[in-house]
Amino acid sequence: MTERTLVLIKPDGVARRFVGDILARVERKGLSISALEMRTADVDVAGKHYAEHAERSFYPGLLNFITSGPLVAAVVEGPRAIAAFRQIAGGTDPVEKAVPGTIRGDLALDGQQNLVHGSDSVESAEREIALWFPHLARG
Ligand code: PPS
Repeated sequence: MTERTLVLIKPDGVARRFVGDILARVERKGLSISALEMRTADVDVAGKHYAEHAERSFYPGLLNFITSGPLVAAVVEGPRAIAAFRQIAGGTDPVEKAVPGTIRGDLALDGQQNLVHGSDSVESAEREIALWFPHLARG
């Protein structure tokens, strides 16, 4: 069954010129990119996107980072797209969790500047797609 997920290539991924590499990995996995946009996130969207982390000590720094420059937002689709993208992204901590062969395992060192974001559930995906691409909201 086809599923969709919200992927962000975070500002460090754009600054390090990994947009092509990351999108190629998505497509090589067999997933489809059905929406794609480069933009600099405003604090309102960034705050809503990371609302579940609002009480965490890293939240202010995370908002500062994610709004610091252009990022790429994408809707990615395919069978089990949510888990499939998180598999190729690797774990949040690029050293302790992400394994070689994954985006973070190959290309990142830091838990905040870890190149990509992928939705973690169907509910999160639909909420995040509605936030970043309002015209693609369902229901
Ligand atoms: S956690 O710790 O289980 O809540 O981590 P996770 O749910 O995987 O994602 C947390 C997101 O916040 C970003 N971030 C950090 N996480 C952990 N520690 C520190 N210090 C930190 N700073 C920023 C992390 O990159 C995750 O972002 P996304 O975009 O969701 O992957």
